[in-house]
Amino acid sequence: MKELKDWFVPWLLTAREYNTGILDKAWANPDHGRLMLNENPIPPSDKVVNAVTEAVKKGNRYPDSMKKLRTKIGKMYDLGPDNVALCNGSSEIIDSMMRIFLKPGDEIIMSTPTFGLFPPRAELCGAKVVQIPLREGDLQYDVEAMLSSINEKTKLILIINPNNPTGVFIDDADLIRFCETGIPLCIDEAYRDYHPEFETKAPLIKKYPQVFLSVTLSKAHGFAGIRFGFVLGTEEMINAFNIMFLPWNVNLMSAAAAEAILDNPEEIKSKVEHNNRWMDIFYEELQKLGLKPYPAHGNYMLIDATMTGKTTAEILEAAIDMEKIYLKRIGEIHGKTGYFRVTPGTEEENKRFLKFIRNYFG
Ligand SMILES: Cc1ncc(COP(=O)(O)O)c(C=O)c1O
Repeated sequence: MKELKDWFVPWLLTAREYNTGILDKAWANPDHGRLMLNENPIPPSDKVVNAVTEAVKKGNRYPDSMKKLRTKIGKMYDLGPDNVALCNGSSEIIDSMMRIFLKPGDEIIMSTPTFGLFPPRAELCGAKVVQIPLREGDLQYDVEAMLSSINEKTKLILIINPNNPTGVFIDDADLIRFCETGIPLCIDEAYRDYHPEFETKAPLIKKYPQVFLSVTLSKAHGFAGIRFGFVLGTEEMINAFNIMFLPWNVNLMSAAAAEAILDNPEEIKSKVEHNNRWMDIFYEELQKLGLKPYPAHGNYMLIDATMTGKTTAEILEAAIDMEKIYLKRIGEIHGKTGYFRVTPGTEEENKRFLKFIRNYFG
C-alpha cells in the first residue's frame, strides 16, 4: 500500500516552510519584547472594539459583498467598488495570486531577501521561484538582473514597496520598467501607510491592467490579529481574485473593525507617529554606535552589524539573554552574516532595545 505522503502532490513537502514558531514563543513569554515581527505595538481603540462588539451580535448571518466598505476603500484610491477585493489579511492575496497566475513549472521573479511567505506559496503551486539578490551596498532591487531573468515561463513579478526587510522604496522609473514588460506585477504596499507622502502606485492599474496592488491593515493600522486586507486592480483582475478567494473570506467583525478605523484617521496617525518617532531614535543611536541602519520607511529597520564580527545568531541570542527582546533573524546577504531587523514596540520595549545595543555594541 502507498504511504500517505505518496498521495500528496509532489510539491507539498518540498516547498519551503514559513516558520511561525516565534509566535508561539512570544505568546508564551509575554514579558519578552516583540520586536521581531512587523506588528504595531498599539492596541485597537475603543471605537474599533465597539464596532466589533456590535458586529458580533449579527454573527449568525453570512456576510454580503460589503459594497459600502469597498466603495469607501475605492474612494481612498480614486477607484470604484469593483476595483477592490477584500480579504483576510494580505497573506491571502499572496496565496491567491500564486494560484491565479502560476501552474507547475511556471516562474515568479522576486528579490532575495524578501518577505518569507512569498516563496513557499509559489512553491506550493509547483512553480519555480527565481530570486535575484538585492544590489550590494544600497540593497535596492537589482532591476537589470530581474528584467534579464524574464523568459517565456515568467508569469508573475513581485515588487514590495517599500521593500521588506530593507524598508526602501523603488524609483518610479524602475517600477515602470516592470510595468512595461506586460507580465502580471504585484506591487505590495503593506507598509506605505507609514509614509503616505510617498504616493500609492494604484493609478498605474489604469494604464497597466496586468498590475495589481496588495494592501493590508496589519501594519500602520495595527490589525495583524484582526486580519484585513484588500487587492486593488482592474475589474477583470478583481474578478479573478474574487473567484480564487473563498466566499465569506472576510468575517463581519474584521470588516466592522476596518470600517471603524478608516473612519478615524486620528487613530492611524497616532500609531504612525509613535512608530516614526522611534524609527528616528533607533536610526540615530545605531549610527552613533558605528552600525549601519538602512533608511527604512516601514515599521522595521534592517541593520548591518557585519563590521562588528558578531553573527546574526549571536546578536539575537544576546538580545534575549540581556534584555528579553526578540529581534528578527536575517539570513546571509551577499555571503555575510551579522544582519538583523528590529521593529519599534512599546516605549518600554524600545528603551530595552536601546539599552541592549548600547551595552552589547557600545
Ligand atoms: C511585504 C509584506 N506583505 C504582506 C505581509 C502579510 O501581512 P498580512 O497577511 O498580515 O496582511 C507582510 C507581513 O509581514 C509583509 O511584510
